Amino acid sequence: MLYTLSDDLIDKIKENNDIVEVISDYIELNRAGANYKACCPFHKEKTPSFMVSPTKQIYHCFGCGEGGDVISFISKYLNVDFVEAAKILADRAGIELEKKDENNEIKIRNEVLFQINREAAIFFYKNLRNNPKAVAYLRNRGIDYETIKNFGLGFALDNWDDLKRYLVKKGYEEKLIYKAGLIVERNNKNGYYNRFRNRVIFPIKNNRNKIIGFGGRVIDDTLPKYLNSPDTPIFNKRYNLYGINNVIKYSEDEKVFLAEGYMDVITLFNHGIKNAVASLGTAFTEYQAKLLKKYRRDVYICYDSDEAGQNAVNSAFEILNRYDIKAKVVIFDRAKDPDEYLRKYGINMFNELVRNSLGFIDYKIHYYKKKYDLQTTSGKIDFTKEITKLLSNIKSSVEKDVYIKKISQETGISPEAINRDSSGFLYSSKDKYIKRHYRYTNKDKISPVKTILKSGYMTAENSLLNLIITDKTVFDKINDEFKPKDFLDKIDIKIAEKIYDIYEKRSYIDLADLKEICNDKELNKLEVILDLDIKISYDSKEKAVKDYMSVIKRQSLKLQNDKIKNQINEIEIKKDKSVDDIKKLKLLLQQLIKIKEKIRLHDKFH
Ligand code: UTP
Ligand code: MN
Repeated sequence: MLYTLSDDLIDKIKENNDIVEVISDYIELNRAGANYKACCPFHKEKTPSFMVSPTKQIYHCFGCGEGGDVISFISKYLNVDFVEAAKILADRAGIELEKKDENNEIKIRNEVLFQINREAAIFFYKNLRNNPKAVAYLRNRGIDYETIKNFGLGFALDNWDDLKRYLVKKGYEEKLIYKAGLIVERNNKNGYYNRFRNRVIFPIKNNRNKIIGFGGRVIDDTLPKYLNSPDTPIFNKRYNLYGINNVIKYSEDEKVFLAEGYMDVITLFNHGIKNAVASLGTAFTEYQAKLLKKYRRDVYICYDSDEAGQNAVNSAFEILNRYDIKAKVVIFDRAKDPDEYLRKYGINMFNELVRNSLGFIDYKIHYYKKKYDLQTTSGKIDFTKEITKLLSNIKSSVEKDVYIKKISQETGISPEAINRDSSGFLYSSKDKYIKRHYRYTNKDKISPVKTILKSGYMTAENSLLNLIITDKTVFDKINDEFKPKDFLDKIDIKIAEKIYDIYEKRSYIDLADLKEICNDKELNKLEVILDLDIKISYDSKEKAVKDYMSVIKRQSLKLQNDKIKNQINEIEIKKDKSVDDIKKLKLLLQQLIKIKEKIRLHDKFH
C-alpha cells in the first residue's frame, strides 16, 4: 500500500462513518432502546440477536458471537481485508488517505501535547491529595472520592513554576509546554510561568479519552472564577463538550444531559447521572450538536435558571433541531443550576423535574410567561402575541386548540381572539424550529399536552400519597404536620381523608377496602397514584417525603400569593375607588407582604 493507516487516521475514518448509518446501508436496523437490532447477516436466524450500539460504535451478535467496529463490519460483510475496508469507508466519508510521511511532524507534535497534558494532570492530581484546603473545598461541594477520581480532578499550587520545572525535568521542551497552554509568556518575553495557580483543576477530555485542556477554579471568591486553557492545536472549546468521555464510557441510557458548567456535570455524576456534558459557558455550537448526534441520545437541556441561561436554551434548542436531535428542557425553578438543585433537593426530585421537562412549545410558553407580567393588560397582550406567533405554525388544529385553551385560561383572553390572531399571523419569525419540527416529527400524531403551566406539585402529591398508602411509617411521621386538607387537589384531599381514617383504625391499607369507599373520580385518581413506580431506598425515603411536602407547601403559598395579587389587581384597575376599596387594598397589601415573607422563609429553609 502506498498510504499509511495511522491510528489517528483510523480514528478519523471511524469518527466520520457512524456505525448505524453504515450498517443501515446494507441491512435494515430497528431501534431497540439505546441500541439498534436486526437479524444477523453473518448467520441464519429468525429472531434478531444482532445489536448495534451507537454509543460504543460497535456491533455484536448474541447468536453467533460475531462483533467489532465499523471497519471490521465492512471487512467481514464485503469479504475484504482490513486495509481495504478502511479505504472503502474513507472514500465513503470523503477522507483522503495520506501519502506516507505527510503531516507526520504535526501528528507527532500533537501526540507530545497530549502527553504533556497527561503528565500535568497527574501532577495536579497528586497535588490535590496533599492539599487539605482543596480537598475540603470539593468535599464541601458534596463531591466524593469516586467522582474526584473519575474526573481526575486536581489542584494547582500557589506557585509560579513548579509545573513548568516538573515537565522540563521530564524532558519536555518549554516551547511545547507553552503550546499546550500550561504556561504563559512573561511580559518581557523572558521566560514563562504557570498559567494555573491556586486553583482546583478540571482536566477536559475528548471523545477518545485524551486530555485536551484544563479548567481551573478558584477556591474562594477571587475573579476570574474559572481560567481555561487557551485554544491550542488540540483544544478548542467550541468543538468539544466537557464530559463527553463519560457519555461513551458509562451509559446505555437514551438521554444525555446538557448543562453549562463543569460543576453541573460533576455533581450530576456524583448523583449517579453519568451521561452529562457541559458546553462550558459558551454558546452551544453546531460542532457540539454534531458530536452529540453521533451518540443518538435525546438531549435534556439543563441550563442555569438565570436570564442568560434561559436565553441560551432557545439557541441550543434551535441548533439541536437543525440536526434532528430530540430535545427537552428541564426547568430549575428553585435553584440556579443543576448542581445547586441536586444538592438541595436530591436525585428523586431531580428525576421529577426531568419527567416534567418541556418540549419546545411548552418551553416557550413557560419562557414568555416569565418574561411578561400576566397580571397586567399589556403583559397579557405581549405574551399572547408571542405565543400566537408560535401557534400559527402548528398544523394540527386539535393540538393548536389545546394550547389555545391553555393560554386563554392563563390570560383571560378569549380563545376566539387568540385563534383569530394565530391564524392571521404573517409568518416572519426566524425560528425555523417549529416548521421543521412539525413537518418531520409530528406528521400525524398529536403530542399530548403536558401539565406544564403548573409545576411538579401534582406529581409531588401523587408520589406522597403513594408512599403513604404503601408504608404506614410514612403516615406516622407526617400525621402531625401534614393533614389531608394540606393537599391542593380536591380529589387528593378526599383520598387522603380516607387513608388517614383507615390508618387511625388499622396498621395497613387493604386496597380492596380503600377502593370500595371511593367514587369514580377518586378511583381514577387512585389508579394513577398506585401506578407510580417510585424507587426510593429506605434511607432516602424520609428525605423524599420531606421534599414532596415542601413542594406542595410551596405551591400552596404561591397560590395564596397569586390569589391576593389578583384581588389587588381587581381593585387597582377600578377607575373610582371607594373608601372601602382603599381599606381593602391596604389589607390585601399587608397580606401580600406576609405571604411573600413566608415564601422567602420557605425557600431559604427548604
Ligand atoms: P458557571 O458560573 O455557571 O459555572 O459558568 P459552574 O460550573 O456552575 O461554577 P460553580 O458552580 O460556581 O463552581 C459556567 C461555565 O462557564 C465557564 C466555565 O466553563 C463554567 O463551568 N466559565 C465561567 C469560565 O470559563 N470562566 C468564568 O469566569 C466563569
Ligand atoms: Mn454552578
